[in-house]
Amino acid sequence: MKKTQPLMVAGNWKMNPATLGQARKLFLDIRGRLKGHPRKTEILIAPPVPFISELEQLAPSKRIELGAQDVFFEKSGAYTGEVSVSMLKSVGVSHVIIGHSEMRARGESEHDINAVANAVLNAGLTAIVCVGEQIRDSHGHYFNFVEKQLLAAIAGVPKTRLTRLVIAYEPVWAIGTGRTATPEDVEEMKLFIQKVLVDHFGRGATGKIRILYGGSVRKKNAAELLEKSMVDGFLIGGASLRPAEFAEIITITETYDKARASAA
Ligand code: PGA
Repeated sequence: MKKTQPLMVAGNWKMNPATLGQARKLFLDIRGRLKGHPRKTEILIAPPVPFISELEQLAPSKRIELGAQDVFFEKSGAYTGEVSVSMLKSVGVSHVIIGHSEMRARGESEHDINAVANAVLNAGLTAIVCVGEQIRDSHGHYFNFVEKQLLAAIAGVPKTRLTRLVIAYEPVWAIGTGRTATPEDVEEMKLFIQKVLVDHFGRGATGKIRILYGGSVRKKNAAELLEKSMVDGFLIGGASLRPAEFAEIITITETYDKARASAA
């Protein structure tokens, strides 16, 4: 990991909260907790689409960046219900979460995930591509599963876009369950993903593509996950809706980053 790529803490609000008023309140609470602290960590919140534009007005400094939880890959036209990359970009979105397991479970195909990843990267936005196994077996087949998901998602991505490609390893069995993968398991998978990326893109890929962990990240497990598995940050669901805990995880990430920098 080169110094040029900051760690990232991304909050995926999923289909929460229920109203714009609540979204404003939640966002302002998080913003207030982060105020006055110069931070290197890249902080992202991915709210539901109807709230993005309003929240963007509340984040003029861009200290908190705005993400989307999904997008459609076509540029425009007769696609009822869909939202394009340029629409998101025009309301201030800089990152898109792609291939989240909850989208895959509702039928998003590998072809579509790949098309979205390329559309997002070609538009100059950051793509956070989610991969992760449903279950762990004793034969290690989950490594093949993750490799297949990853290669399908990044097919056709040019090497010039790698600093805006982020991989989120999210084992499905750990999402929203309170069961976190052990730091050792996460480290092993991080190294595996790195190897797949280097085999695919060449040696230069390692320092450019960040690898996050997601799945029941909490303030109580964040430090250990960073220290032992050396991931480049987190994709957080449940805890991103709790401002104090989300801010605390960002502080833990900063502390880890400083310790890491002074040890280097
Ligand atoms: P969780 O969700 O933190 O609630 O487990 C993670 C995610 O879905 O990205």
